[in-house]
Amino acid sequence: MFKKIHWVDYKKRFPKSFFELFFRKICQLLARFAFINSFRIFLYRLMGMKVGTRVYIGYDCFIDPDLAELITIEDRAIVSFRVIIVAHDRIREFVAPVLIKKRAFIGAGAIITPGTTIGENAIVGAGAVVTKDVPDGTTVAGNPAKPINS
Ligand SMILES: CC(C)(COP(=O)(O)OP(=O)(O)OC[C@H]1O[C@@H](n2cnc3c(N)ncnc32)[C@H](O)[C@@H]1OP(=O)(O)O)[C@@H](O)C(=O)NCCC(=O)NCCS
Repeated sequence: MFKKIHWVDYKKRFPKSFFELFFRKICQLLARFAFINSFRIFLYRLMGMKVGTRVYIGYDCFIDPDLAELITIEDRAIVSFRVIIVAHDRIREFVAPVLIKKRAFIGAGAIITPGTTIGENAIVGAGAVVTKDVPDGTTVAGNPAKPINS
């Protein structure tokens, strides 16, 4: 798990203007419904997210626009439609990075919570809620996501 950074400290250290946040929200909105994967990836990169090569990100994902710079998706990872990736938690007042490593697969509708890493070649089942790191090559499913035999 990545170290948690206090929400207020992070905002002070990396302030963002209203216009930057507005621009990111527009990118997020367009990316959700763009037809072509490469255009979606282009918009997510504009938003500040780090995206490797040959990555696929499906329709209607919600990827935390305000903290996109904390989200990394490595080469050849697949993020299916309606996945949610968040890098902040207002109730516990922290922000933390999210890392999706090479060739990982995130099933439709999964939720990836702040501070988690999805390992190389790992599989996250449809609808899973990932609250802890997923080791390389492991398949997890459910809420909270746990390893399954497959
Ligand atoms: C996670 C997944 C890859 C597992 O497939 P699998 O290895 O064939 O696993 P199985 O179907 O044998 O299931 C193993 C166990 O995990 C459970 N399970 C499988 N997928 C699950 C899921 N998404 N959520 C909760 N439990 C799940 C099964 O019910 C089964 O439980 P049991 O042992 O108590 O009967 C698959 O179920 C999945 O979610 N695929 C993603 C589909 C998707 O998102 N497609 C989007 C377009 S690409």
